[in-house]
Amino acid sequence: MASAGDPHAGPRDAADQNFDYMFKLLLIGNSSVGKTSFLFRYADDSFTPAFVSTVGIDFKDTAGQERYRTITTAYYRGAMGFLLMYDVANQESFAAVQDWATQIKTYSWDNAQVILVGNKCDLEDERVVPAEDGRRLADDLGFEFFEASAKENINVKQVFERLVDVICEKMNESLEPSSSPGSNGKGPALGDTPPPQPSSCSC
Ligand code: GTP
Ligand code: MG
Repeated sequence: MASAGDPHAGPRDAADQNFDYMFKLLLIGNSSVGKTSFLFRYADDSFTPAFVSTVGIDFKDTAGQERYRTITTAYYRGAMGFLLMYDVANQESFAAVQDWATQIKTYSWDNAQVILVGNKCDLEDERVVPAEDGRRLADDLGFEFFEASAKENINVKQVFERLVDVICEKMNESLEPSSSPGSNGKGPALGDTPPPQPSSCSC
């Protein structure tokens, strides 16, 4: 399994790249919804049908299993974005979205951006969560919404790119004079967070 220091991590290894910004993004959701598969599809363009459950945390990809919850919450701090994932063929994973959203609100930065992702949309025959239900829940929670498939490579890149875009939009908003750090405007400014140092976003 790839991790931050994995010599096989390939050409996308951040340590080898020049970059202007580094964002901490987390993938969260119940066990087996496809978080690790989603990350592998994005980073490696690979997919494996085998299920090897993540233990604890691996390169900001968290474990969905209840017993690791206390470890994962510590990692929420400083995260600028979340992919909150459920499996469209698993009702329980969808029912758990509200709890995961509460965890984000409790443990993360107030301005952290969240995208709700209904993964495994390739499993149309086994679908139990209509796309409309996902969209409605996302609207209620104030999140953006995508259905996706790590297996068939549907919307994987788009989801990550959209998350970075909304983070950049939020950064630019908080850098506008009316909400400069130290003002009493609503919501925390970026100065409240450990993330990016540069004063503008060139995304
Ligand atoms: P934990 O690490 O336990 O939290 O699980 P996880 O969310 O990381 O799930 P993982 O990525 O390991 O995927 C679980 C199973 O679902 C594996 O057998 C994957 O092959 C399968 N899977 C993941 N994404 C998809 C998808 O888009 N479509 C289908 N059909 N299967 C998928
Ligand atoms: Mg995993």
